[in-house]
Amino acid sequence: MTQLTFFKCQSEDKPINVATVPMRSPFRYPGGKTWFVPYVRKWLKSIGPNVRLIEPFAGGGIVSLTAAFENLAERILMVEKDEDIAAVWRTVLGHQHKWLIHKIETIEITRENVEKILNTRTRSLRERAFSTILRNRLSHGGILAQGAGLIKNGENGKGLKSRWYVGTLRRRILDIEIVKDKIKFIQGDGLDIIYKNLDSQKIAFFIDPPYTVAGRRLYKYHKIDHEKLFALVTRIKGHFIMTYDDAPEIEDLALKNRFEVERVLMKTTHHLRKYELVVGRDLEWLRNMY
Ligand SMILES: C[S@@+](CC[C@H](N)C(=O)[O-])C[C@H]1O[C@@H](n2cnc3c(N)ncnc32)[C@H](O)[C@@H]1O
Repeated sequence: MTQLTFFKCQSEDKPINVATVPMRSPFRYPGGKTWFVPYVRKWLKSIGPNVRLIEPFAGGGIVSLTAAFENLAERILMVEKDEDIAAVWRTVLGHQHKWLIHKIETIEITRENVEKILNTRTRSLRERAFSTILRNRLSHGGILAQGAGLIKNGENGKGLKSRWYVGTLRRRILDIEIVKDKIKFIQGDGLDIIYKNLDSQKIAFFIDPPYTVAGRRLYKYHKIDHEKLFALVTRIKGHFIMTYDDAPEIEDLALKNRFEVERVLMKTTHHLRKYELVVGRDLEWLRNMY
């Protein structure tokens, strides 16, 4: 019987230092996986460069972007259900990224201007993308789900303006332009896409679904049938890993489906240390990291 193992040696004391990972996403994404990038590198390198990566719950997309920039996959497919997030990816990866940069550069950030844009029913895809970036960058914790308000004081009490990093956003969007031929984006249901790609041995899925508890507060779409997702994942013929919060019901599901589980340590944005779960069929590459 497959053993359920818990990864301890990375220790107790040393989470990944996020400062060593290039920030490439235009989003400041709640539940973002920047901290997990060193593990993803190791995982994809253990498979080889000809793999096709699918990220069925893409969110801020840091894993896909890293794979594209670092040639860790031949082709990449990002999938996201949220219409606002999708609007950003479709704009950034499409032909309207320069328009978006222009808007980012020319908006005068005042509370009044920002609220006006956020409260306007946006018409075009690119307007929706711009409004989403504004909301993501200027709301508490980058949260796009309803209920998250705009930040109050900003850095050093300088208000919203101090959180609007024009140069950073411009650079990230322009950089993505360089690798965008490798990346395809689909707005849709991650489970459908997994289902459609079950049989290819060349595919690696990086599966980071909305978490069981925190997801409710963080995302508009947070309801996932985790049992169904696990059942689907057992049918994947290629490669996969899943990341989850450290929840007993997920351990149980992993055990029931005969997967391996490892715990890895991370630091939250509030510098708290916590464990997250990595689930896979064979996590030898992870145990070899230390
Ligand atoms: C934990 S977050 C992913 C974070 C991402 N790995 C990152 O580094 O930014 C989960 C994402 O799944 C999206 N989502 C929820 N249900 C979905 C579904 N059925 N299909 C595709 N995406 C979905 C949420 O909108 C959210 O962006």
